[in-house]
Amino acid sequence: MLSKDKNELLTRVGPGTPMGNLLRRYWMPVAGISEFDTRSTKPLRLMGEDLVLYKDLGGAYGLVDRRCAHRRADLAYGMVEQQGLRCNYHGWRFDAAGHCVERPFEATAIPGDPGKDRIALKAYPVKLLAGMVWAYMGPLPAPELPEWEAFSWPDGFAQVVISEVPCNWFQCQENSIDPVHFEWMHENWGKRLRTRDMTLGPTHLKLDFEEFEYGFTYHRVKADSDEQDEAWTVGRVCLWPNAFFLGEHFEWRVPIDDENTLSVTWKYTRVPKERAPYEQGSVPTWYGPLTDAAGKWIDTHIMNQDFLAWVGQGRIADRSLERLGASDRGIVAIRRRFFEELDAIAAGAEAKGTIRDPAKSQRVPLPMMDREQVLKAHTIDEILTNPRMKVHYTSYIFQAGQPEEVRRAFSAAMGVEVREFEGIVQSRGKAVAQT
Ligand code: FES
Ligand SMILES: [Fe+2]
Repeated sequence: MLSKDKNELLTRVGPGTPMGNLLRRYWMPVAGISEFDTRSTKPLRLMGEDLVLYKDLGGAYGLVDRRCAHRRADLAYGMVEQQGLRCNYHGWRFDAAGHCVERPFEATAIPGDPGKDRIALKAYPVKLLAGMVWAYMGPLPAPELPEWEAFSWPDGFAQVVISEVPCNWFQCQENSIDPVHFEWMHENWGKRLRTRDMTLGPTHLKLDFEEFEYGFTYHRVKADSDEQDEAWTVGRVCLWPNAFFLGEHFEWRVPIDDENTLSVTWKYTRVPKERAPYEQGSVPTWYGPLTDAAGKWIDTHIMNQDFLAWVGQGRIADRSLERLGASDRGIVAIRRRFFEELDAIAAGAEAKGTIRDPAKSQRVPLPMMDREQVLKAHTIDEILTNPRMKVHYTSYIFQAGQPEEVRRAFSAAMGVEVREFEGIVQSRGKAVAQT
């Protein structure tokens, strides 16, 4: 249980808020690079700020205020030029640093137009990595953008999946350090939704949580595993401050504003041995729906189940009403660390896990269980005869709505037929997926 004041501290992310100041010190993935194959501007709301992300004709990206500095027209309708973005209302042009570099009529009326040099839009640095566009909205100089080791894995097909989830970011991130929900939400409830089978999956027997440089790890022993299992010896990574790393995929929970979160997933699948070497041309990005055509919340896929849990907690979960239990030790630990970090940052300290040394930001390793299963080049035969691998090669289990063209590209890369995922199934007592 938290006081209402502390709940506000954790959840408010707008400009000038303590948590907003903390989160702005980290690079956030905000879009897929491939989205700009078919568009040149994209309106984005990030941490309560309305912005426009664009790619100009010179190939450079910019992230600037959504409203033009002249008379506030919407720059999402702007025209990209060889360099920068031109407002469609009176033609003022701005570069990626936000500087006004041209005012067509003013240059005619006042030769040289010196006045333009005093005009600038709010602008934030942008970088490209792993098929995603990343933004940094904090104080300069920006820290390095960590190139997580996973981004350098060879012979893989990556895809980026984005959804807008209508609730506060922090309840999404608390899910990254909540091992027990997997047993109930994804195994037991997942099975109850699709079968009449009332038997329950293996129970959690023991949990542990540890902090490290880039976040926390959670560790579990379930009734079907023991202390030799990597679920206990390695665990899963609750990546500071707003992500989850599960070996073959990352999930980021990027605040749109206090009441909405951009869920961004990067998912890697290694091609079978027969298909290597494999070089992926472009990483596809797709947007996953939350509800079906009838308006019902989708409950078939793992992250869709998570989404409906998070949204069910309310737009901003009221932690003054909760009653925490023994499964919540990790949640208590990260809340405590966030409060400590808010104080440390206010006192001028470097934010936890930020990297300033460019050499250190290359191939940054993270704890990872099932490393061999994810990274070894298996034959198609080995994959199709192992249920826990097969499901990842024959369907996309994390979110509903994978477009047909992405499914076809994935299938072509893997040399395996792919179909719609119908829900978690049990294989010899073990769920085929484990978060
Ligand atoms: S409002 Fe943008 S140029 Fe006038
Ligand atoms: Fe989950």
